[in-house]
Amino acid sequence: MASGSGCGKLILCGEHAVVYGHPALAIGVQRTTTVDLQPVEGPTSVHSAQGVDEQLIRAVHGVISPTGWRVQLTSDIPMGRGMGSSAALSVALVRAYACATHTMLTTEQTHEQALAVETLFHGTPSGIDNAVAALGGLVHFRRTDTGPVWTSLPCPALTVVVLDSGTAGNTRELVGGVRERHPENTPILNAIGALTPQIQAALTDLDRLGPLLYNNHQLLGELGVSTPALDSLVHFAMDAGATGAKLAGAGGGGVVLAVTHSPDQLVARAVHAGIDAFCTPIATGAA
Ligand code: MEV
Repeated sequence: MASGSGCGKLILCGEHAVVYGHPALAIGVQRTTTVDLQPVEGPTSVHSAQGVDEQLIRAVHGVISPTGWRVQLTSDIPMGRGMGSSAALSVALVRAYACATHTMLTTEQTHEQALAVETLFHGTPSGIDNAVAALGGLVHFRRTDTGPVWTSLPCPALTVVVLDSGTAGNTRELVGGVRERHPENTPILNAIGALTPQIQAALTDLDRLGPLLYNNHQLLGELGVSTPALDSLVHFAMDAGATGAKLAGAGGGGVVLAVTHSPDQLVARAVHAGIDAFCTPIATGAA
């Protein structure tokens, strides 16, 4: 048996702007996708408790030989919620197959191969989701003319509360919508990009960090990627004591992240109000 995994992610700041070359910060979370490969006679088959669809089969076949493997996927990353489920799957597939074929991959090679698979899901991703799925921890990411540049930063002791809207956003469509409104939306993208260094400098001070995250959420709203459900989760979190909150990921559905001095209390209040919520520290990655 050969295995590989990739972790889920949350974008702290810079989603969408990152597609246009602005810097972004993302964290690995304590949710993982694992791929187990078992050699078998005959065609490769795919198994997952979350169901197997055409897109998943294409992703598997983008990495793994069409014959000779039983592919078992296990994941606790909610799908389509902006938590990097497809990037974690892509990284897990690449790592598992490298393990099965006794191939050593650098992080760059893992990223490159996983990005090709991710393209099947999302069209033209910036690569930030794959970088975090492969590295975990706190990642600074920027797309440049010569390729993506990512840096693993020292992890602050930050616990983030995740509130799930229960609906999925379509990353490909949302990124496409922002592109249709480009270049008119350039000032909003520039303002989001300018927040990243400020947020990076405020990571250990929740009273400074929260308002900056909320500012990022408002700009994402102006960009047209928030929804009334996401706005109401943000306000719920802030009314319940969060210093700030924002949608995380492409938007259109998915999750909101919140920072607070009392994460367990916020989760309890959200669950009491019928919201699917949990908290996560920054997870340092999966292999
Ligand atoms: C999706 O997790 C993040 C986006 O910025 C798209 C991308 O960077 O590929 C919306």
